[in-house]
Amino acid sequence: MATITTDTGLCAQALRVGKLVAFGTETVYGLGANALDPQAVARIFAAKDRPEFDPLIVHLAHAKQVPTIADVNSPYIPTLVERFWPGPLTLLLPRKDCIPDLVTSGLPEVGVRVPRHPLALELLSAAGIPVAAPSANLFGRISPTTAQHVQDQLGNRIDWILDGGSCQVGIESTVLRVDADGHGTVLRPGGVTLEDLQTVLPQVTLAPGLLESQAAASPGQLLKHYAPRKPLRIVSDWSAHPTVTNAVGLVLDSPPPGTFVAIEVLAPDSSLVTAAANFFAALRRLDAGPGEVILAEPFPQYGLGIALNDRLRRAATGSGEISRTD
Ligand code: TXA
Ligand code: MG
Repeated sequence: MATITTDTGLCAQALRVGKLVAFGTETVYGLGANALDPQAVARIFAAKDRPEFDPLIVHLAHAKQVPTIADVNSPYIPTLVERFWPGPLTLLLPRKDCIPDLVTSGLPEVGVRVPRHPLALELLSAAGIPVAAPSANLFGRISPTTAQHVQDQLGNRIDWILDGGSCQVGIESTVLRVDADGHGTVLRPGGVTLEDLQTVLPQVTLAPGLLESQAAASPGQLLKHYAPRKPLRIVSDWSAHPTVTNAVGLVLDSPPPGTFVAIEVLAPDSSLVTAAANFFAALRRLDAGPGEVILAEPFPQYGLGIALNDRLRRAATGSGEISRTD
């Protein structure tokens, strides 16, 4: 089992010598390694069973470190950085040569983010290196939002978990590409909403495929993702839905009609911020408990609801395919 700790010095030292450290951020837990060391980065892919075509996000302690790993390709980048960093926004920037191919899957851009979680920032400062970190789950599975979630899935594959408590935002960062004219393309909706981005950019669009069942917008954005073991079905209209026996429910604010073996109400006050913070943990509880099928209602398609619907749709696509013993 991994050691769960709050000792950032110990974890920073582990990172510096090429080890893997899972750490809490405000979005989800990340599985970190020295981004400049290809062998350390290779350990991330092995620990997660992650295919190498899926690029990693590089985490920095401070925006002023960006020029050490990437170029700034748009006059809008400093404004975005000023407004949203530290925070749940990943910027795709032209990478410098020091970033190994494995980090970007050979792509010309590198995803960069400065997280907001104080312990993550302390870790990054103490380590003094850029840290590549995907979400700390097995590839394709539900993202972790507590140290125990990481322990449950990866505890026998890594040494250290830096315990940052429950993740406040609860869903991953928004992945954004911006061109010189300020046209932003969201490759993954996340903790920074489209409405937030529109306050800074003249034009923001969701990458093709994010709203329909189409090909991946970004290499790692496979439609099959965040998958529970149980089949998950999205129910838009409960009244038109036939009764399913042995079902569990995942809803925003109020229990629907029908009998459920278990139900998770994400936010009794309908707050999408609260719903996002609870989403992955609730999905895990429903998957681990009794019942055969998860019925989930879609979220309103604005604000964080866009990112939540994206996660739900991918979870539904990959659900029910993992053996119960896995
Ligand atoms: O909130 C987050 O972003 C978390 C925490 C740990 O920071 N990290 C995270 O990493 O969610 P991961 O690896 O699970 O998801 C990264 C996403 C993938 O969809 C990947 O394809 C995309 O970012 N991405 C990373 N680098 C990219 C690049 N160079 N070009 C296109 N997409 C990229
Ligand atoms: Mg992930």
